[in-house]
Amino acid sequence: MNQLIAPSLLAADFGHVADEVAMVNGSNADWLHLDVMDGVFVPNISFGFPVLEAVSKLSTKPLDVHLMIVQPERYVRQVQALGTYMMTVHYEACTHLHRTLFEIHEAGMKAGVALNPSTPVSMLKDVIEDIDMVLVMTVNPGFGGQKFIEHSLDKVREARELIASSGSQALVEVDGGVTLTTAPRLIEAGVNVLVTGSTVFRASNPSQMISTLKEL
Ligand code: DX5
Ligand code: ZN
Repeated sequence: MNQLIAPSLLAADFGHVADEVAMVNGSNADWLHLDVMDGVFVPNISFGFPVLEAVSKLSTKPLDVHLMIVQPERYVRQVQALGTYMMTVHYEACTHLHRTLFEIHEAGMKAGVALNPSTPVSMLKDVIEDIDMVLVMTVNPGFGGQKFIEHSLDKVREARELIASSGSQALVEVDGGVTLTTAPRLIEAGVNVLVTGSTVFRASNPSQMISTLKEL
């Protein structure tokens, strides 16, 4: 299976957001990745539901919603109302992760769990069968355009091992610092989904860049 490509709108030009979503719609991207930040869980604020609603109406790609917020369980219904395909919460933000995963599934969405660079993959051992995607953060969440953390490659391999040993069908996604240099190494380590912000939106031909990443 070819890797899935999920361009992150965070790196788009928000003065022309409809054009940017149209570019993704017309490209070989698989999903549209949406980064929600609350200024508490991460030291940055991105966008909230009014923007997400507008973008969800424009997008023809499945929505991959990455919540970098505290208490994400409070927003399951609102994320569902966007028509979200994959709702990803942070391990570090969920006191009752098992219950939250149940609520996401009950709302008809796939459930992803993101791990900060300092959180070991082993923390997911007891919930791996309830997870549809493990998001290995390859930078500290909060900002686009950061440098890839090398240790993430080991974490991707560990995530693959945990998934295989449990018989789960979960995907492995990476987010942050994905470039034409790091992407092939990540794919080799077993990644299924590449999130790409600056590499796509700062490219001279973003749609072509998406195809290039898809064909690696
Ligand atoms: C980081 C976000 C990422 C970000 C990636 O907190 O979760 O999705 O947009 O940006 P790049 O690809 O520029 O590192
Ligand atoms: Zn993200």
